[in-house]
Amino acid sequence: MSNLSKSRILTGDTPTGRLHLGHYVGSIENRLAMQQTHDCFFIIANTHALTTRAHEPAAVREDVVQITMDYLAAGIDPAKSTIFVQSEVPAIAELTWFFAMLLGFGRLMRNPTVKDEIVVKNLGDNYSFGFLMYPVGQVADILAFRAAYVPVGEDQVPHIEMTRELARRFNVSYCGVDPQAGDEEHARKGVFPVPEAKVGRISRLIGTDGKNKMSKSLGNHILLSDDAKTVQKKCNKIYTGRQSPTDPGTVEGNPIFEYFDAFATDKAEVAGLKERYREGKVGDGDCKKRLAEVLNAMLEPMRQRRAAFEAHPEKVLEVLRDGTARANVAAEETLYLAKQAMKFDFFPRELKLR
Ligand code: TRP
Repeated sequence: MSNLSKSRILTGDTPTGRLHLGHYVGSIENRLAMQQTHDCFFIIANTHALTTRAHEPAAVREDVVQITMDYLAAGIDPAKSTIFVQSEVPAIAELTWFFAMLLGFGRLMRNPTVKDEIVVKNLGDNYSFGFLMYPVGQVADILAFRAAYVPVGEDQVPHIEMTRELARRFNVSYCGVDPQAGDEEHARKGVFPVPEAKVGRISRLIGTDGKNKMSKSLGNHILLSDDAKTVQKKCNKIYTGRQSPTDPGTVEGNPIFEYFDAFATDKAEVAGLKERYREGKVGDGDCKKRLAEVLNAMLEPMRQRRAAFEAHPEKVLEVLRDGTARANVAAEETLYLAKQAMKFDFFPRELKLR
């Protein structure tokens, strides 16, 4: 099947650190499956990183490269999928303006993910104007590629909901689509199809602290790029709340077993371990040791692929450059269609990366 006949997906990550196991089950795994069947675009949202890291240009740049390496290590194949840098696709920034004009300020402020982030990141009323722009920018990321599906974690669903609203509003305002039209009519008559979120198999992976969702900022994460020893150490530190190895253990909500369920291929072994754990017949230490083996078996091929790219960082930039060139072809085409619909199509242009 050629990429032209495949439906498109777009998703990506903000470069705020390397990817961890939570990203893997929440989205990366979905992407690996979909790259066989869909025309995939993966965005490294470096402009969005400025919402919290405006004063760390070197770290943001480094993380762009690190996340690209995480993708390649996980098995995203640049011959099948397009990996690109957000800031080098100007059509996205231009579309952001147009969509911002179609979005009520009150609607944006009711976006639950925006509200949550203000609280969780302790922003108070000190967030930048650009912070409020990022969800609109995300709408443009998705619609610039006229993606049909967006594989994301649950926390991103409100942004996809906003994207759906804005696609419809644009089509109604500029393409003569009926306000009551269904998604199919939008796809046929509008510039923008109405995209759908695809939430991963596990939308919330617990952290090694046994309390919060796995996240970099809480330091309760296991990175896809951690070496075998670090994985073992982090497993040893998993908090289960169990006092003694002969106490009956709780399996539900226990990170050890959440990770076994998420990553072990031998389901019968896990079922057996759970039974013995519940009966106080196996200690945390033994379970953690086995868990580290299971995780390391999964991560080892990723480490090997990563090492190959670490030895040749210029190859990573090449992947990004090729991907960004392809992304620009797609996004420029969309932008021109949008401008035609808006009667802004004064002068066609060509964009070339050097
Ligand atoms: N906001 C997303 C995150 O932090 C990253 C992102 C940027 C994204 N643009 C996107 C995800 C477009 C999906 C589609 O995880």
